[in-house]
Amino acid sequence: MAISNFDYDGAYLYMKSILKQSRFEHCLRVSQLAGELAEKYGEDVEKAKTAGLFHDIKKHVSYDEAYAVLTKLGVTEKILLELAPLSHGLIGAELLKNQFGLDDAKIYDAIANHTFGRLEMSLFEKIVYIADNLERGREFEGREKLEKLAFEDIERAYFEVNKNTLLYLLQNNRKINPILVDIINEYIDNYVEDKWN
Ligand SMILES: [Fe+2]
Ligand SMILES: [Fe+2]
Repeated sequence: MAISNFDYDGAYLYMKSILKQSRFEHCLRVSQLAGELAEKYGEDVEKAKTAGLFHDIKKHVSYDEAYAVLTKLGVTEKILLELAPLSHGLIGAELLKNQFGLDDAKIYDAIANHTFGRLEMSLFEKIVYIADNLERGREFEGREKLEKLAFEDIERAYFEVNKNTLLYLLQNNRKINPILVDIINEYIDNYVEDKWN
């Protein structure tokens, strides 16, 4: 069943023409894994596959374009403006909404939040976020184990993915959006029983 009002074919052709082949194939794999996770957790498979497919539609956004879209949307946080192209999720979600008629909040939010995450993420958003990080073309130690974990304990997998991201940023001298630390603390508050040892 098609997602109402959404010009899926138009967005697909646009994305295929604009993304590098390797990025396009990444999107196909994210779509696949997001669909499988949605099936496992009783979420909407078609919407998960769609969000996975289009999550990086604006991956190649320039700094200037990203900055312009963010300020137009009223974003004022310094770190977000500094790292403007990392908001390619939000910018892509806006493009899908404004140019291709996407009016599905679930898909919009999952795409918009796939880079930085957010506190109190929905299960559907986590599925797309995790699929992006763990799709089968990614090559890093422990990927397969984490993929398995994602099908057993999605909250724990979300935590492990965020820990990996934090470690990567630290090891590569990259700026850290404080929301990442908040998200890690959120998991510890909710799931780690013995916080003091
Ligand atoms: Fe992305
Ligand atoms: Fe991605």
